[in-house]
Amino acid sequence: MYSEKVMDHFANPRNVGEIPDANAIGEVGNAKCGDIMKIYMDIEDNIIKDVKFKTFGCGAAIATSSMATEMVKGKSVDEALELTNRAVMEALDGLPTEKIHCSVLAEEAIHSAIEDYKKRGGKVNENK
Ligand code: FES
Repeated sequence: MYSEKVMDHFANPRNVGEIPDANAIGEVGNAKCGDIMKIYMDIEDNIIKDVKFKTFGCGAAIATSSMATEMVKGKSVDEALELTNRAVMEALDGLPTEKIHCSVLAEEAIHSAIEDYKKRGGKVNENK
């Protein structure tokens, strides 16, 4: 049912955790399954220096968070905004149809963090 890459990113997720002084935080949820994804970024001069995630969700949500964070690390915010759930799924060698919404959550979480960065003007604030 799941590709080896999905199983690898689920069993050994990359970039799990929080960034205490993150200047971009995005949180999204899916009302149907109740899963929540939170992304923390440290962005300097529009480059994503570090990114971490916490996902309270299914295995596919954890795998897509892990892959999505790997794909945006070191990229500019504009490049990260171009990340699509389809690209994340392709990087994971596919997901079952009923798990596509999990990858959408990853795309939305990345976008939400970058929107937060833009709103804050790059500053760290207390709104963690
Ligand atoms: Fe909802 Fe995977 S089942 S994010």
